[in-house]
Amino acid sequence: MAIPRPSPSYARPPPAPFSRRHPHLSLPRPNTTDVITGDADNNVTDHIFEKMGYALHKRPDHPLGIIKAVIGDYFDEKFGKGEFATFDDMYPIVTAHANFDSVLVPPDHVSRSANDTYYVNKDTVLRCHTSAHQAEMLKDGARKFLVTGDVYRRDSIDATHFPVFHQMEGVRVFEPKEWEDAGVDAVDLASAELKETLEGLATHLFGDVETRWVDAYFPFTEPSYELEIFFKGEWLEVLGCGVMEMKILEDAGLGDKRAWAFGLGLERLAMVLFDVPDIRLFWSDDKRFTKQFKEGMFRAGGVGMQKFKPYSKYPPCLKDVSFWLPKENPESFTENNLCEVRSISHWFPYDRVGVVNADP
Ligand code: PHE
Repeated sequence: MAIPRPSPSYARPPPAPFSRRHPHLSLPRPNTTDVITGDADNNVTDHIFEKMGYALHKRPDHPLGIIKAVIGDYFDEKFGKGEFATFDDMYPIVTAHANFDSVLVPPDHVSRSANDTYYVNKDTVLRCHTSAHQAEMLKDGARKFLVTGDVYRRDSIDATHFPVFHQMEGVRVFEPKEWEDAGVDAVDLASAELKETLEGLATHLFGDVETRWVDAYFPFTEPSYELEIFFKGEWLEVLGCGVMEMKILEDAGLGDKRAWAFGLGLERLAMVLFDVPDIRLFWSDDKRFTKQFKEGMFRAGGVGMQKFKPYSKYPPCLKDVSFWLPKENPESFTENNLCEVRSISHWFPYDRVGVVNADP
């Protein structure tokens, strides 16, 4: 039977299948004028502003929220529940002083350039790492804490780079009594606990994997290290860390103490653990992405856990199709007959009813 083509008025665009934002979980969005100022040094684009306030790390069923929670659980297990205070809501617009000077980034360091950092004006930036909060947290009295947040770095965009991503910072301060009682050097104690803690974290996340420490340089730690793990046949850098520079503690009035600190990227971990092939997918509100992840689904190393399943690059297209079955012997209608009906209904591109008379 000939099937009428839809009239033009019938071919309206599909409704947006779901809302773009999750307001109940978003952080307050800065005002546009707090970010896009027209100041001579202002280099924040609309595209970046549009990403602010999403708080992907606060969504329990989002891969970034899941990894954040798994790391939080590890610190609760290792140090006692709530011993590490967690902060997820720190405002991402910080002073250049907090972002750079407070963590001893030298005046001529490349990360300060307008090519690498988003400036609101000459004294205000979008934080380029969660280390921007170390000094203020210490001054506020925090001694063991985790800070998670969105960080911003000007960069090219591809499957593994995006100018907004999420970091978690961990800091732990030692009292003199701790190294005196242990009869060891303060830096040795901090270094040893740091390495032991982060090796434990690697096992918590990746299962029984080989790890190695690589010497590194950060302006805010000495000694500094990077932790690498051997996962799926390659060495993967998972975090940077070290013993906090004394100057940072002194500036916070904690000159008699010692501390360790680490910083890790949540996207990096989530991509390898959930098999997410492209960093841009984390920003998707497409249900075919978001429905694949659930709070509590995580298993170490992804073993026995549902991994990300790729889906079509085309948007979902729902079809509501009606048709008749043959009067005689309706059981002869099989699954692939249904597929034929579906493909005929391509003529009705935007849902609604296609009528096919299957009666011979
Ligand atoms: N802030 C560093 C980065 O973004 C990571 C880091 C944090 C390293 C704390 C050492 C200590 O790369």
